[in-house]
Formats: sequence, C-alpha cells, structure tokens
Amino acid sequence: MINVAIIGCGNMGIAYAKSFIKYEIVTKQTLLLVEKNENQAQELQKMNIGQVVGQIDATLKSYEIIIVAVKPQDFSSISEQLSGILEPKQLVLSIMAGITIEKLTNMLHHPSIIRAMPNTPAQVSMGVTAYVASSGTTLEQIRKVEKLLSTTGREIFLEDEGLLDAVTAVSGSGPAYFYYFVRAMIDAGKQMGMDEAMASLLVKQTMMGSYHLMNNSDKSLDELIASVKSKGGTTEAALNTFEQSDMHNNIIKALKNAEARAKELSK
Ligand SMILES: NC(=O)c1ccc[n+]([C@@H]2O[C@H](COP(=O)([O-])OP(=O)(O)OC[C@H]3O[C@@H](n4cnc5c(N)ncnc54)[C@H](OP(=O)(O)O)[C@@H]3O)[C@@H](O)[C@H]2O)c1
Repeated sequence: MINVAIIGCGNMGIAYAKSFIKYEIVTKQTLLLVEKNENQAQELQKMNIGQVVGQIDATLKSYEIIIVAVKPQDFSSISEQLSGILEPKQLVLSIMAGITIEKLTNMLHHPSIIRAMPNTPAQVSMGVTAYVASSGTTLEQIRKVEKLLSTTGREIFLEDEGLLDAVTAVSGSGPAYFYYFVRAMIDAGKQMGMDEAMASLLVKQTMMGSYHLMNNSDKSLDELIASVKSKGGTTEAALNTFEQSDMHNNIIKALKNAEARAKELSK
C-alpha cells in the first residue's frame, strides 16, 4: 500500500482517489483528502474513501506521496504552508497545468517533484498522463507514481519537460475538442428532424465504433476515411465542406493556440 495525500479534490483529485482505491493501491486508511470547499468535503465524506480534512497541516508529513490537484491560480496560496511541512523523503506529484518543475522546486524548496498532465477520462480509468520528474526524484519514487497513474489509464514518461505544453494542448484539453465535435454532430442530426435521444445514440455509437475500428484495423487514417468516402457521394460532400473551411489547418491552429496559452501560463 502507498500512503497518498491529495490536496484539492475536485474533478481530477476525486478521479485519482477513486482509481487508487478501485485498484487497491491505497486503502481508505492510507489516503488523505485535503479539500477546502465545504460542499465538496461533505461529498467526499459520504464517499467514505479516505480521511477528509479541510486544510493542509502537519498530518501530511506521514504521507509518502503528496498530490497537488488545486487550480494553478490557487497554488501560490498553499505553497508556503506546504513547503514548511514537506519532509525530504516525500514526493510531490503536481497535476497543475503550466507550473514548471523549476517553479515547483523553488516555491516548495523541495527536490523530489513529478509534474504530470492527465486528462478527464481518468475518471473512468481511460485517461492518458504524460509526466516528467525532477533530478532529485528517485527511481523508486518514479515507480510508485507510475503505479498510481496506471490506475487512471495509460502513462508516458517524458525526458523533455518542454513537451508538456504540447501534451496539455493535445491530450489535456483533447476531451473538450471531442465533445465539441460530438455536440455539433448531434445538433446537425436534430436540425435534420431527429430527436435528441436518437441523434445522441447515432453519434455516440458512431464515435465509439469508429474508435474501435481505428484501433483494430491495419488501415491508415487516410485509408479509413477513403473506405467511407466514395466519389461524388454523401461523405465526400461533407468532407469537401470541411476542406473549404480549411478545417484541418484550423484544428492544428487551435491546438497550437492551446500550446501557446500553456506556455504563457508557465511564465
Ligand atoms: N480538469 C481537467 O481536464 C484537467 C486536466 C489536466 C490537468 N488538470 C489540472 O488539475 C488541477 C485540478 O483541476 P480540476 O478540474 O480538478 O479543478 P477543480 O474541480 O476546481 O478542483 C480543485 C479543488 O481544489 C479545491 N481547493 C482550492 N484550494 C484549496 C486548498 N488550499 N486546499 C484544499 N483544496 C483546495 C477547490 O475548492 P474551491 O472550488 O472552493 O476553490 C476545488 O474543490 C488543475 O491544476 C488543472 O490544471 C485538470
């Protein structure tokens, strides 16, 4: 069992807590949940998955891994208090977007830091997380974090922290792009006379089926597109509309804007 404390138990913090418990990497006796929002703290109490406290205190000293899952803008308000508590043998795992290892190390005056970028499908153990480790992190600490992250989906170790901004743009924000496209397709179905339930079933099953086909096929993405599209047909009519609005390049531009924003937030 690993002793884990999670500071900030919103979307991601809860997803982590539930996954660690589900895969029996922690027990409710070895999991501490630090949540300042009273309503959220009450929800956590009801879940009965760990000890819930309202603020950081010396109790944290007995946890080997401290996960910081507050919003990046809330970090400065906890960093001083946290740095006063941290023991040299503890590891801090930060999932906050845009806060660099250098900044974390300096603000926490702590050598062992892992910075990770997860995404929300972690809530159903289907997430993907890329992470980097500070030079003061031991192999044993990295292995433990890997074990924790693997309960939330797949994980990728990065040598180059500079790539985390691109990861943020591609997979961190990625679920929102997917939902955006799904919503637009459902709206199109409704405008063609379907009710919400029918449009939703057709679109969601199409997305899921296409994902599985993509993963189980030897064909490239271009070949898979070609297998649906016939000359002068319906798919071509839709894809031509995408091309006319330069959608492919616009998507690339959008993700580059997300990457630029991540870089800006890191400053
Ligand atoms: N959501 C995503 O898709 C995603 C993906 C990758 C990375 N991340 C990163 O994950 C982190 C958490 O995101 P989230 O979506 O889970 O945010 P969230 O739902 O807002 O959760 C953060 C929680 O931390 C609480 N909190 C704030 N200050 C605290 C403190 N001093 N002590 C204890 N708890 C405190 C907040 O309470 P209040 O509501 O009262 O402030 C809130 O309940 C962010 O840094 C984000 O960059 C998120």
